[in-house]
Amino acid sequence: MSTHVPRKAMTPAAVLARKGGEPLVCLTAYTTPMARLVDPHADVILVGDSLGMVIHGLPSTVGVTTDMMILHGQAVRRGTTDALLVVDLPFGAYEAGPAQAFETAARVMAETGCAAVKLEGGETMAETIAFLTRRSIPVMAHVGLMPQQVNMTGGYRVQGRGADAERVLADARAVAEAGAFSVVLEKIAEPLARRITETVAIPTIGIGASPACDGQILVIDDMLGLFTDFRPSFVRRYAELGQAADAAIAAYAADVRARAFPAAEHTFADA
Ligand code: KIV
Repeated sequence: MSTHVPRKAMTPAAVLARKGGEPLVCLTAYTTPMARLVDPHADVILVGDSLGMVIHGLPSTVGVTTDMMILHGQAVRRGTTDALLVVDLPFGAYEAGPAQAFETAARVMAETGCAAVKLEGGETMAETIAFLTRRSIPVMAHVGLMPQQVNMTGGYRVQGRGADAERVLADARAVAEAGAFSVVLEKIAEPLARRITETVAIPTIGIGASPACDGQILVIDDMLGLFTDFRPSFVRRYAELGQAADAAIAAYAADVRARAFPAAEHTFADA
């Protein structure tokens, strides 16, 4: 029996209104069955471009395309009823300027039915965020570690330490003032996350950014133990589904080799 109690569908305005309130529960999802599992528990489901690595085996998020985001966005939409659905804009599909960002975001929203898009970038993206939000496209911003910039930054290091904190704070301020309804803070130290959360008027959603944030997000495959190529230190594993799947597949293989599967109950008799 389902224990799902329908909630009022989340909106960008409802997320914004949670500033300083009950922490926002956010998770990624990339498929319909996973969205169905996440939806009853989460306020926000993000179709993150992390799908490039955890679903498609790419070395980074740089190779993810708009078509990939749309395909997975449509799948997740079919499994989402209550949570706010946000879809990432992929690398190369919005950075050229506000007009390119609008074209991509409008296509992603129209073809997936998502209610908002997320894009990476602070001060440099403020003009684009203002352009989109004035044209009815709600934007979740993303500052701190920005994985799409890996080829410039050369890695996935903690951001905003020491004097660099001012840069990340300025980025968070800029996206909030530009009209973003929330901002992901990725991989920054606790004092900076606290300072940003106290400074900006929009909810901060942390990933590796301490409990000081207004909400938290994790990559679903990380927290379920399905993605095991590497394990960021900020991830808590809530299950080891990869290990469980490995054991199940090994048991199936052994059964087939021993002719122990299929058994009588899996076998059709003649009429
Ligand atoms: O792509 C993604 O999954 C993300 C989250 C890590 C916030 O951007």
